[in-house]
Formats: sequence, structure tokens, C-alpha cells
Amino acid sequence: MVEPLEARIAERALAYVAGPPSGSDPVIELASPEELQELFGGAVELGFDATADAHADDAILGAVDLVIKHSVHTSHPRFVNQNFAGPDPLAVVGDWLGAALNTTGATFEAAPVFTLMESAVLSKLGRVAGYRDETADQLPTLPPGLFCPGGSTATLYALQLARHRIRPEVRRTGSTGEQLTLFVSDAGHYAASKSAALLGIGTDAVVKVESDSGGAIVTAALEAAIRASLDAGQVPFAIIGTAGTTVTSAFDDLDVLADIAEEHGMWLHVDGCYGGSALFSPSERHRMAGVERSDSFVWNLHKMMGMTQQCTALLVREPELLESCFALRADYLFQPDKLYAEYDAGDRTFQCARRIDVLKLWLAWKHHGDAGFAARIDHAVAMAERTRERVAASDEFLEVAGTFTNVVFVWVPPTLRPLLSLDSLPPEIHAELHALAPRIKARMQAEGTAMVGFQPIGGLNTFRLLYMNPAVTEADIDVLLDRIAEYGLAACQD
Ligand SMILES: Cc1ncc(COP(=O)(O)O)c(C=O)c1O
Repeated sequence: MVEPLEARIAERALAYVAGPPSGSDPVIELASPEELQELFGGAVELGFDATADAHADDAILGAVDLVIKHSVHTSHPRFVNQNFAGPDPLAVVGDWLGAALNTTGATFEAAPVFTLMESAVLSKLGRVAGYRDETADQLPTLPPGLFCPGGSTATLYALQLARHRIRPEVRRTGSTGEQLTLFVSDAGHYAASKSAALLGIGTDAVVKVESDSGGAIVTAALEAAIRASLDAGQVPFAIIGTAGTTVTSAFDDLDVLADIAEEHGMWLHVDGCYGGSALFSPSERHRMAGVERSDSFVWNLHKMMGMTQQCTALLVREPELLESCFALRADYLFQPDKLYAEYDAGDRTFQCARRIDVLKLWLAWKHHGDAGFAARIDHAVAMAERTRERVAASDEFLEVAGTFTNVVFVWVPPTLRPLLSLDSLPPEIHAELHALAPRIKARMQAEGTAMVGFQPIGGLNTFRLLYMNPAVTEADIDVLLDRIAEYGLAACQD
């Protein structure tokens, strides 16, 4: 008997999860947009005609094979391109199971187990962050936060909460005409500005405060910026502290930010999307000191912890605010007289339907335990340390920045060695160096050997290696650096 199509696709997916590409397998088999369209044309066209015909199972399976072949293999230990990688296999299948049970996390009625699971996991995350007493009730009806569809959305919700605390009437009346201001370092994530735009506060209201050479906020500059805003008659209402900046993984001094927020009666939001997971490691959690004093804290478990995208917890110190900020009490869904209505999470958020993002995290945490989560972080930090040592040991590279799991550096052409600093480079050398990283990366993509990110720092393209995949070994680091050096040399000789 021929198996149904879904079983045949599931077989492929499971085989992929059990043995993702590694070693000499390509990280990507690059094809241009035109080539991809042509390849799919041989199986099932990517596009749709005005009338969409049904396709035979074998043709669809051919297309599925192309999807796998030409996707980026983010499980590969030489995918260090972005701040997600190496999904935990349990998270992948946890996601499938959640999808198979297809429900919404809006009400206990529709998601009894998941509502309690979400409460349990948020409560545990809250305790890890220091929000709740270890002895607190494990399954509160009002957990200290909620799961959100990504860090940017969680930032939007957090800033909505921050404004709601000082101007609850805005929810009903719209803007009061006052100029509210919020503060984030110039190394912070753009989610702050996007949120300000959506909230109607406006991107001009986002004060980008100077960061130091490592990427952490200069707290004296923050204080000066808040004073300047007050002097201008504005209403400073929120500070965003970044714990693990996107490029260098810098951690702002959250304790000092909490002091400043307290002094001015401002909301402190911690963007721990990336670095929040340092909390899992006894030797790394010091970086997060002060997070327990924040009003809200966003933590992307889909970054360092290998949960599939997306898995974002927004923790809120006073969770009662979620209800007063978001609830509209739609009577067809949140009937107060139904069974267990007090457990419903759906009116504490903007969303109506909510994906079940908690199951995969619950499964992984129960399987690995705190010790397994700590080991994942410690391994990532050890790999970054090893990279730093190799970079420092050779005049082929110059480290520019980075801490925790991120190493930011340039490859130095032989004619410039030894290069001791990037300060005051003559313009033609600057331009030559700047052009190298994209060329090296493009060759990596074309050959599929690795995927490494680059970004401008001080106007100069620099490589960023960042680690979170537990499959990365020291041998992978050697290959990554060797390929950068090899392709760099070749680019100089072209
Ligand atoms: C520091 C930081 N904050 C926020 C975000 C946004 O998170 P998301 O991609 O889940 O919206 C990112 C994403 O990379 C990030 O690095």
C-alpha cells in the first residue's frame, strides 16, 4: 500500500531532524532566484496559475526534496550567520506535536494542558530571572507574563504596558499630545523604533544613547539624555536595557539602569532576546545582574536555546497590568461564567489566536533539565573563547569587539600585517578592507562551506562569529577561520 503524502513528507522531515547536514556537507546549495524557479518548474512550479491544479504525490515529493536541498542548513555547525542555529530536535518535534493538536492558547477551554504548561514555564522563567520567589505557587492562574510571536512583538507589548502604566487613558482616548520619550543604546535592536512607530509615539521619540566601544550603554550619557528630555518638557517613560546586543553581545549594566529608572519613575524593559539565556548558566548569569529589578523582560528561547522559531517569553513583574492594558472581554470567548475562566490568557495580549510555543520548551527543559540548559550556554561561550584565542594568536586577524558568544573581527590582508588598530585607516585601505568581507562571504555561500555574518562597525564591514549550536567543535572553528583566510587571500589576488 502506498503511504499517504503526509507520511512520506514526515519521513523525510524526521530523517532530516535525526541526521542534519554536518561535516563536509554543504551549509547551503546556493541557487539564484531564477535558478530556483527553474528547478521547481521541473517538479511543482513555485508560482500559481489563475487556476491551481492538484499535483500528484510524487511530484510534490520532488518539490519537498528541492525545499530541503536548497534551504540553508541552520543545524550545520558551520552556520554561524545569525543569532539562531542548531534547533534542538525535541523542539522541532514538539512544534509538530503542537501543530498536530492545532489549538489556540487563548483559553483554558481550548487549550487546558497548554494553559497550565505556559503558566508553569513562565513561572519557572520568572524565577530564573529573579521575578518570583522560589517557593511561589508553580501554576498561578496569572503567570508572570506570556508567550509572544517573537522579540519585536514582545517589545511592542512591553512598551504598550510601559505607557499604559503612566497614561492608562491613552488606550481609550488615543494620544494625549504629550511627547513621550524612550531610551535605548545606539547598539540596541531596531524593535524599539518600530514599536514607537506602531504605538504612535513616533520614531523621533526614541533617544539612541551612546554605547561604549564594546557596545554597552554609557549610563552617564543616558542620565544626561533623560535630563535633556525633561528640560525640553517631554515625558521620559521607558528605558530599554539590552542584554546581549545583536552584533557584539554586549550587556548593559542593568542594575544601574534600574537605579536610573527608579529615580525617574520610568519603566525598565530588558531586551534579553539574545543574552537572556545567560541566566541558565551559573558562570554566565552575572551578566544579567539587575534583571530582577526590571518591569519587563523579553527572552527569545528561539535564539541561544535552540527552540524552533518562534519561542519568546515576555516576563512582566506586575502581570496584572497585562489585563488592564489589553483586555476587552469579548463575551463570545471570555465568558466569565464558563468553567475555569480565570485561567484564560487570551485577553492579556493583543492577539486572538495564539500558537502553542510552550510545548517544545517544556519538553526540552524536562528532558535536559537545568544542567543541560547550562551546558548549552557554557559550550557556546567556550567555542567563542576558542575563536578569540585563535584570532589573537595570528596577525591574519584583528579582533574588533565581542563578548560572551560573539567574536567580531576582520581578516587582514598580508600587505597590512601586522594591523594593530582600525583607527585612522587611510581611506583607500578602509575601502579595500570594507569590500573584502562581502566577497569572502559570497564565495562561502557559492561553495556552501559555511555561512558567517558580517556587518559594518564604525563604517567598516567586520565578520561576526556567534555560537549557540551544541554541535560546533573546535575543528569547525578552525575550518571557519581557515576558509575566511583562504578566500581572503584569493580575493586579494583577483
Ligand atoms: C537584541 C535583539 N532584540 C530583539 C530582537 C528581535 O527579535 P525577533 O527576531 O524575535 O523579533 C533581536 C533579533 O535578532 C535581537 O537580536
